[in-house]
Order: sequence, then structure tokens, then C-alpha cells
Amino acid sequence: MEQPSRDSATAVATVDLQRLPQHVAIIMDGNGRWAQAQGHLRTLGHREGSHAVRRIVRASRRLGVKALTLFAFSEQNWLRPGHEVAALMELLREYLVTERDELVDNGIRLRAVGRVDRLPPSVRDVLEPLMRDTAHLDGMTLTLALSYGGREEILDATRRLAERVLAGELAADAIDEALFEAHVPSVDVGRVDLLVRTGGEQRISNFLLWGAAYAELHFTERLWPDFDESDLYEAVRAYQGRERRFGRVEPRPYEPVEVRE
Ligand code: FPP
Repeated sequence: MEQPSRDSATAVATVDLQRLPQHVAIIMDGNGRWAQAQGHLRTLGHREGSHAVRRIVRASRRLGVKALTLFAFSEQNWLRPGHEVAALMELLREYLVTERDELVDNGIRLRAVGRVDRLPPSVRDVLEPLMRDTAHLDGMTLTLALSYGGREEILDATRRLAERVLAGELAADAIDEALFEAHVPSVDVGRVDLLVRTGGEQRISNFLLWGAAYAELHFTERLWPDFDESDLYEAVRAYQGRERRFGRVEPRPYEPVEVRE
């Protein structure tokens, strides 16, 4: 595996390796702006973005993150111009072909979440065998969100539960949070600890709505093609500076209030 640069080796020293987020999810935004700012076509920005994907997968594995989920293509991205969609699909295929050995050698299990059946056969033909061949690896799980939408999968869960109620298998009042969650397709991806968005916007954009309910959010101006190891460490440090309460209030020791007359 490629060694970190000297700068990033220094930066990683400031991360507390005992309190890493187990699951980091990233909205990789800013490819188009990165390209346009340099007078290039947007698709060149996506190509640079795919290099950033390689970099961040390596850095996350090296750091010891257990799960990394990348928003590579949303349900809404199908509405982009045909040539841009085709370029993204080609990059995805290229990534899966060229990274195969590195993923396997580094114990990285590859998964996908989303309406994968909408992807062209050129992508599915490399994606599916790679998911099968890495299913036993446990160094880190890399999940690509592909043709993914958070609302869409919540609707899918609702439909599946409604069908079970209609079939008489389930009483409506037996649907609690745990049962609902079990029907959300991305449940296996796990709950998100740290959600990062690059590119300066501060939105969740329909990403992992259920699993990121209590995620710590980190927004950075950095455009995705420029995002590197030190940006990842900065996000992790920001996470480590937060107090996670999951809606609860920590019990505090009783402190008598001093009453002054
Ligand atoms: C958003 O940037 C990014 C995407 C829609 C696609 C992300 C894809 C990649 C990083 C490359 C291919 C993926 C893999 C896994 C190899 P944008 O185009 O919306 O940027 P903008 O906001 O500047 O227009």
C-alpha cells in the first residue's frame, strides 16, 4: 500500500486512534466546479474525483476506519446530461477494474447500496463479481451508494412492510423502530458516525437519511478532487471534538445551588 506523505504522517499523529469514527460517509461534491474553474469539461472533474476516491479509500483503511460509504451516484443524477452519466459509469467501471487487486490485498469488502439494477451491464458485470469475491474480507467495508436515494429506500421499506401487513403476516402496531430499520435496504451499511460533505454546500442531499440520523456532520469548502488525507484527518479531529449524546442528557453529579440572600 502507498505510504502517506510526510505532511499527512504528521497530521495523522494528531488523530486519536482510540476514538475513531467506525463509519464515515462522504458526499463527494465539487467535481464539476473544480473542472470549470480550470477551464475544463465537468467530466475531467469526475476523473480527478475518482483519483480522490482511491486516495481516501487507502487513507481510511490505513487509519483504521471500519466502514466507508461514498455517495458515488444518486437517483437524481440520472437526470444529468447523457454524456456526463455515461462518463460517470465509465469511471466507475474503470475504478472497479483497476482497484480490484488493491481492495482484495488490503482486506476491503466492497458493497453497493441503491437501485443497482438500474446501472448498465458494463458496471454490474464488474461490480457483482467483485462484491462476491470480497464478501469474506473484514479489514474495512467500502460501500458505494449507486443510484441511491434516502427517501426512495425509506419508501421501499414502507412498501415492504405494508405488503406484509396486507398479507396478514404482521400487525400494523407491531411496527417499531427496530422492525422498520430492518426493512431499510441500507441497514447493513450501518449507522453513520461521521458524515462529511465537500464542496462548500451544507446539505444532506437525500444521503443515508435513516442511518445518518445521529451522525456528526462535517462540511468543508474543499472541492472533492482536492480532498486528501489531511482533510480526512481534519474531519476525524472535528468528530473527536464533539460530544455525542444521541438526544440524551448526560447525568451530571449533584451540585447544590448556592443561594445568596
Ligand atoms: C458531485 O460533483 C459528484 C458526483 C455526482 C459524482 C461523484 C463521482 C466521483 C467522485 C467519481 C467516480 C466514482 C467512483 C467511485 C470511482 P458535482 O458534479 O455535482 O460537482 P459540482 O457541484 O461542482 O457541479
